[in-house]
Amino acid sequence: MKITYYGHACFGLNVAGKNLLFDPYVTHNELAKHIDVNTIPADYIFLSHGHEDHVADAFDIAKRTNAVIVSNYEIAVWFNKKGIEKYHPMNHGGKWKFKFGTVKYVAAVHTSSMPDGTYGGNPGGFVVETAEGNVYYSGDTALTMDMQLIPLTSAKLDVALLPIGDNFTMGADDAILASDFVKCNKIIGLHYDTFGFIKINHEEAKQKFAAKGKELLLLNIGETIELN
Ligand code: NI
Ligand code: MN
Repeated sequence: MKITYYGHACFGLNVAGKNLLFDPYVTHNELAKHIDVNTIPADYIFLSHGHEDHVADAFDIAKRTNAVIVSNYEIAVWFNKKGIEKYHPMNHGGKWKFKFGTVKYVAAVHTSSMPDGTYGGNPGGFVVETAEGNVYYSGDTALTMDMQLIPLTSAKLDVALLPIGDNFTMGADDAILASDFVKCNKIIGLHYDTFGFIKINHEEAKQKFAAKGKELLLLNIGETIELN
């Protein structure tokens, strides 16, 4: 499995020949100006919640790639009403077997409204289980006890993608506890640096994780790593 960081909370997973894209927000991200959104591949677009900084590029990418939008019921239907034909609605606790593996939509503690103010259901995260590795993408969330359910109900995680920017989501200290809850010591940070409220000190965050025997990876925008 390959993991590419497109900035903010946006990641691409390349697995089993499919491209899974999470929370695309590239065009309006000042830090991602060097990324050409028109080259980002997608067979599936997973949306954790309805906020602008997670869905802004989803419509255009779905139109260009004919990708399936996968999200909670309200968000998936909102995109369908806007003209996206291929969509897959899910809801909390539900699992679906896709061609590349299994995805479960899990709880997040945050809010969710669409950019036009429409109700966006409740926010969530995704646990992706594949033959090439298992990934938890939490989306925007606070630290929550529900995370303890993930290792009880899913295969052992290889990596957890967690917010570390604080203010709107968990910060690094709570993300360390979250990584305990989900029983995964390899973390890729998301939702940091993009706006003034979430600028962080990278070295300090990495050292906090290292002090607990954990690895925090902060990818460069545009960087791809191989998960192993
Ligand atoms: Ni949000
Ligand atoms: Mn956000």
